[in-house]
Amino acid sequence: MSARIIDGKGAAAALRAKVAVEVAGYRAATGRAPGLAVVLVGEDPASAVYVRSKGKATLEAGMLSFEHKLPAEISEGKLIDLINELNSDPAVDGILVQLPLPDHIDPNQVILAIDPDKDVDGFHPINAGRLAIGLTGFTPCTPLGCLKLLKAELGDLSGKNAVVIGRSNIVGKPMAMLLLAEHCTVTIAHSRTRDLPEVVRAADIVVAAVGRAGMVKGDWLKPGATVIDVGINRVAGEGGNSHLAGDVDFASASQIAGAITPVPGGVGPMTIACLIRNTLVSAARRDG
Ligand code: GUN
Repeated sequence: MSARIIDGKGAAAALRAKVAVEVAGYRAATGRAPGLAVVLVGEDPASAVYVRSKGKATLEAGMLSFEHKLPAEISEGKLIDLINELNSDPAVDGILVQLPLPDHIDPNQVILAIDPDKDVDGFHPINAGRLAIGLTGFTPCTPLGCLKLLKAELGDLSGKNAVVIGRSNIVGKPMAMLLLAEHCTVTIAHSRTRDLPEVVRAADIVVAAVGRAGMVKGDWLKPGATVIDVGINRVAGEGGNSHLAGDVDFASASQIAGAITPVPGGVGPMTIACLIRNTLVSAARRDG
């Protein structure tokens, strides 16, 4: 193994501790705590785990957590009614609706209903647009966490070749916008990209966000590249056991990369830390 292992868990703990100190200052100055409302629709076990972790981190930072658990059968209209209530609730600074939603609910309509100034996920088209043209808004938490890890590892990213694998609205597209704002030369690769290994081989920075376990192999990488693995894939093992695996084949990639995030313990903890940070930022902006 030659690659440095990027400690996302440690970086997230440090960011959460810093936010907690700032929250204490905010509470002392304003007499109120920032509040995050998290909405979970249905019983998806992975989503339930994420929502629990988000609520716990919110409380640990000294903020208020409002959890809304709704049955899978709830109508889109009723869900949007709840969002409208949260939009006008002064105790709520951030609103997050955990995705994916059940098939009968259009996630775009739900995201559009969230007040852009409480959209701590950064999914509203207003915030996507702000990010694209360099205005202040909210940046989606996973790509923001990836960027913080990259800057801590590499410092200035200017002029670097970055390949983002995956073009989702949640990760791939905002990641590309953030890297562009850091003056990287950015390629967005996806399922129709021709000769993906060759595209990846040109990259100083690789961000893998495709949702396919172990897809990116070590021999696709430029030696010394920095690899950020966003994938969290549950892989069946022997005897009914399962484990989490990233989108990058860690065993081979860690022989070639200069630095690489592990799964678990890489990007995942940073997503939650950035959500906490965005919630504090929202509270401070709404007061100011
Ligand atoms: N589902 C997977 N990742 C996310 C996220 O960052 N935010 C929300 N709301 N749902 C998700």
